Amino acid sequence: MNRMSDITEALPPHRVVPFITEEQIQHRLQQLGKQITEDYRDVHRPLLLVGVLKGAAIFLADLVRSISRPVEFDFVAISSYGKATHTSGEVRILKDLDASVAGKDVIIVEDILDTGLTLRFSYLMENIRNRHAASVSVCVLLDKPSRRRVPIEVRYCGFRIDNHFVVGYGMDYAEQYRNLPYIGIVEISE
Ligand code: XMP
Ligand code: MG
Repeated sequence: MNRMSDITEALPPHRVVPFITEEQIQHRLQQLGKQITEDYRDVHRPLLLVGVLKGAAIFLADLVRSISRPVEFDFVAISSYGKATHTSGEVRILKDLDASVAGKDVIIVEDILDTGLTLRFSYLMENIRNRHAASVSVCVLLDKPSRRRVPIEVRYCGFRIDNHFVVGYGMDYAEQYRNLPYIGIVEISE
């Protein structure tokens, strides 16, 4: 079996500095779950949480368990905007929803909102609206507002952060660190 050091040796030398603890994440999740439960208390339509793979998988798994009302969940995969700087916006939906969203209140769950280009140019929200969802809103674990290039209305946000590259709790650096129970900042060594 590969040792961690064998895997990470392929990457530039770097370290991961603890940033948001497991306890802070879990505490904020309880608050978000409570807020969502309250907001949809008198709504008698199905509530569907749609996680954007892969980064939101762990956040969504914990979030649904902090909501005390019936909730469905599903996942989509969209091709990453990556490091592209152009705004012509070729972003595709790689894995679509499994079931109909008609008549459901949908919350799109993202790990982190950065420039906003992926969400905008995947037309994910428009797509879900066009399929007659009752409502569509956005929930992000992390928001980097200073990096935004297109406006995105965020209804639920875990933490607002400065412009750091973060990993852990579902988020990756070259597919590594998704399994960290906390969020860390990647510092590339000189
Ligand atoms: P935007 O909003 O720029 O975000 O379209 C696109 C995707 O980029 C990822 N992203 C990150 N992933 N650490 C990560 O692991 C980060 O600091 C980071 N910033 C952006 C994220 O998947 C987002 O959906
Ligand atoms: Mg993502």
